[in-house]
Amino acid sequence: MSPETVPAHMKWWREAAFGMFIHWGVYAVPARNEWVMYVENIPKEEYAHFADEFTARHYSARDWVKLAQDAGMKYMVLTTRHHDGFCLFDSKVSDFTAPKTAAKRDLIAEYADACHALGMRMGFYYSLEDWRFPHQLPHLPMWEDKSVYQPMVEQAHAQVRELMTNYGKVDILWYDGSFPSGIWRSEELNAMVRSLQPEIIINDRSGLPEDFGTPEQHISPQDRPWEACMTMNDTWGYTAGDKNYKSVRQILGMLIQCASQGGNLLLNVGPDAEGRIPEPAVERLRVVGEWMRTNGKAIYGATRTPLVTHSFASSTRVGDRMYLLSAHWPGSTASFGWCGNRVLSAKLLATGERLIVEQKGDRVWLRGMPQYAPDPNVSVIEITVEGEPKWPEVRFT
Ligand code: GLC
Repeated sequence: MSPETVPAHMKWWREAAFGMFIHWGVYAVPARNEWVMYVENIPKEEYAHFADEFTARHYSARDWVKLAQDAGMKYMVLTTRHHDGFCLFDSKVSDFTAPKTAAKRDLIAEYADACHALGMRMGFYYSLEDWRFPHQLPHLPMWEDKSVYQPMVEQAHAQVRELMTNYGKVDILWYDGSFPSGIWRSEELNAMVRSLQPEIIINDRSGLPEDFGTPEQHISPQDRPWEACMTMNDTWGYTAGDKNYKSVRQILGMLIQCASQGGNLLLNVGPDAEGRIPEPAVERLRVVGEWMRTNGKAIYGATRTPLVTHSFASSTRVGDRMYLLSAHWPGSTASFGWCGNRVLSAKLLATGERLIVEQKGDRVWLRGMPQYAPDPNVSVIEITVEGEPKWPEVRFT
């Protein structure tokens, strides 16, 4: 299936283009990222003490949702539970949860209320594996007797049912950690999910392909709906020492790379143990939001174009319009090729200024452009063509 053809229940998601990923859990206390339990081989009894300091004191789900909305993000995916097994939600089958430890609140209930109240599409990340089971840490070769995994699998089924039942409408289920593979009874699990949440969209990490692919930390288009998940610095869960934040220009570059190839971007933030999203992430999201308010038209619902723009820009198509998104402003003239339609007009999205269009066959020149880029990060030109954008006819001369 080409990314241009999406099933009806995924239409909103494809048009959404941009979502916020949130990795939040007790690992924010040691602040050495979400793999700390595994990497340092911390016994589960010792690890459990981090929950005593996981207060979530400053957590405001509404503020998170508003921040995402302000950044132009149309959906969110929050870790309801990561590989360490700590649940941000109330669970009848576990005591290692936020409501039963220092936070004393169902943090997922607050997230669900905020998403529903503010009209944000809501996603749940859920790790199938749980490192607190003796056979999980460190990862060992598959046990021959698969029944050893039974309690972990039962727990996952019970918790997924809780998540699908107790929080109203869930738009996305984002599985992770299906280790070891083949034990999860995923067909049965996902049939249950779909019976409880008929419109849900499910990712490809339960051992089944389901609705969309999830390239991680790289942007590689797939022959089906796909979403690249990327960190804003180098780590997912809060890591005090990781200050290596991408620039706004790099973040927009990732978003454009996804949009121009028909995919979504799920961009991560890692709040601290008190529920604060680190300031460098907030600052960047605000600037991205400003850019989206002017240029989002070129991103939401975008697919590929046939245009060849050399290196001055990437291109997207939204409906009948095409957009050139330039991170390397060429100066007063730009040119592109492989355009299958007559170009009727071209204008700068930032200022509305119209550009002079010249065209010979599939090659187009835009003249009278400002000498310097109108936007310090990425400047966008909107191209209106006659009819539906199409690939040019190939002429052999
Ligand atoms: C990986 C990691 C994990 C992170 C996830 C995000 O599977 O195990 O820590 O949550 O990818 O895609």
